[in-house]
Amino acid sequence: MKKVFPVNLSAILTALGGRHAMQQLLDVGPSAISNYLTRGQLPQRAKPIIYAALTAKGYQLRPDDLEIIAGPAAITPHTVSAENHAGPRILLIIAGGIAAYKALEVARQLQQLGAHVTGVMTDSAKQFITPLSLAALTGEKCYDSLFSLTDEAEMGHIRLARSADLVLVVPATASFMARANAGIADDLATTILLATTAKVVMAPAMNPVMWAHQATQSNFASLRQRGVEMIGPVSGDTACGEEGEGRMCEPAMIAAAAMRLIPTYAARDEADKDSGAGTSRSLSGKHILITSGPTIEPIDKVRFIANRSSGKQGHAIATALANRGANVTLVSGPVTEPAPANVTLVNVTTAAEMLAACDAALPADIAICAAAVADWRVKAAADEKLKKPENPDAGMTLELCQNPDILATLSAAPNRPKLVIGFAAETENLLENAAAKRRRKGCDWIIANQVGGEDDPVFGSALNQAMLLTSDSVEEWPRMQKTELAEKLADQIEAEYSS
Ligand code: PMT
Repeated sequence: MKKVFPVNLSAILTALGGRHAMQQLLDVGPSAISNYLTRGQLPQRAKPIIYAALTAKGYQLRPDDLEIIAGPAAITPHTVSAENHAGPRILLIIAGGIAAYKALEVARQLQQLGAHVTGVMTDSAKQFITPLSLAALTGEKCYDSLFSLTDEAEMGHIRLARSADLVLVVPATASFMARANAGIADDLATTILLATTAKVVMAPAMNPVMWAHQATQSNFASLRQRGVEMIGPVSGDTACGEEGEGRMCEPAMIAAAAMRLIPTYAARDEADKDSGAGTSRSLSGKHILITSGPTIEPIDKVRFIANRSSGKQGHAIATALANRGANVTLVSGPVTEPAPANVTLVNVTTAAEMLAACDAALPADIAICAAAVADWRVKAAADEKLKKPENPDAGMTLELCQNPDILATLSAAPNRPKLVIGFAAETENLLENAAAKRRRKGCDWIIANQVGGEDDPVFGSALNQAMLLTSDSVEEWPRMQKTELAEKLADQIEAEYSS
């Protein structure tokens, strides 16, 4: 059972600036706050918002129970203001879609990557989140009106537009993209798009049918042709309950992709990485995509098909490669392994989501598929819990269909990573099966490990024993820690790139 931590709500209320501030931050009424105080608990969705708001104010908190450990420290809105912040300046425009709430997480992730974020919200965005939530997170005023005299006196829209190294629109709705494409400047956000000289990046999000509509597709293509960079969308469940293309990319992915699109930042990041004293930065500048962990495929609302992968091997590889300076995107199924440092982690559940996240992470120099992806999913997963038949002798049949093969898809992609590495988890005929799998899936190398043994099933274990198969060689590796195997693989990749 999930552990519930009691929360010191009065300390949090004081730090936030009172009940009214918390109401506005969480977009709830006064009775909700009274409820939280009576129960001494916060709803789950409130915790990351409060954590981010107080961290932005300079407090140090424990993430699980929001206990205030120290603060407010030196990070105040003044010290992180655009004028004296060393990181790139990002103008984050939030348009009005259900995914607007995810823009708060994008702001937080950008700040963690060292950016200074200034928020701008459209009127429709304010139907979903409040400007105060964004202001509390960024430690700076959130701009929302073209005609506010104060804003014009403090910072006119031209100055606002020109002060940014990058303008990022999250979520880019169908309507926002249409107005941006037509050059309509009828509010602060669209006026900024016309007035800025910085790169504009959009993360589209909408219903799959709206996304597929010719008008949207034509706006999308035309904006791209004019130099607007697009991050996503990807396929998956959308907020309106329909499945298909139109789902916004995960916040961590958007933040990492946006940072990569700032030329000065990318250059400085490389220089910083290259100067890493005492550590090898041999893979600096390489974008490496790694899959890890299991995928989980629903049967009904409460049951699922899964496997025993713990993510230990994939996560160890991510750590080893990030330590060598690579820019790692780790797409992981549900695991309890801690997130490796200095990687962009994208959490997914199903194989379809994993494929969409991998697709969105391209281009990459190298792809490594260590995930145990479910080969099948239930063709029509039930929306409610399936009932057991009354008759105790009655059987139960689930119709399964095949999941997409992520490794094979990456190997055949038009923007295929230069080096694609798969794993083969076999219970018999390891060498033959792995060699056949390498050829069938079109990857360059395959790491073959014998799984399911009684002494060590490899799944979930700290140890692994493997062979590395290329098109013309087989190298047998002794049994070792998964972390050591990860270093050995990193050595091979380094050797490949230095030769
Ligand atoms: O996570 P751990 O507990 O540390 O365990 C590590 C591991 C055993 C999971 C790992 O070492 C491993 O072998 N990963 C691959 C597991 C697997 O699904 O193997 P496979 O032989 O079924 O698939 C072959 C390759 O195709 C793999 O690279 C797999 O990621 C990929 N695949 C498979 C099916 C699918 N639909 N899409 C894929 O991309």
